[in-house]
Amino acid sequence: MKRNILIIVFAIIITMGLVFASCVSSKVTDKSGSQLWAQNCMRCHNSPPSSAFTNTQWNIISSHMRQRAMLTETESKKILEFLQTGD
Ligand code: HEC
Repeated sequence: MKRNILIIVFAIIITMGLVFASCVSSKVTDKSGSQLWAQNCMRCHNSPPSSAFTNTQWNIISSHMRQRAMLTETESKKILEFLQTGD
């Protein structure tokens, strides 16, 4: 009997973990480039607008700032797209 309860408790914990993990990852991927930019790039400095640099300059800046802001490749790409297309 005791073993069954343990198995049920473990099952609940694992299910909660999976639900939580899927929420976190969907939140991150749902964020748009502008949201990621607003939330990450202002942590350290006022973020210059997309018009402040050319597309070539943004390529270089984004690879430098990706390391500083600890962004994933997807997040960094979204921000770069936002900065290169938006005004
Ligand atoms: C952990 C802190 C930090 C985060 C987060 C951060 N930056 Fe920076 N950023 C810096 C520092 C420090 C400098 C100045 C030194 C340098 O240029 O490397 C800088 C400089 C810059 C510059 C000026 C570069 C130049 O040549 O004048 C730009 C543009 C910039 N960051 C954009 C961004 C963008 C876009 C993001 C978001 C993806 C971002 N930063 C996130 C710390 C950060």
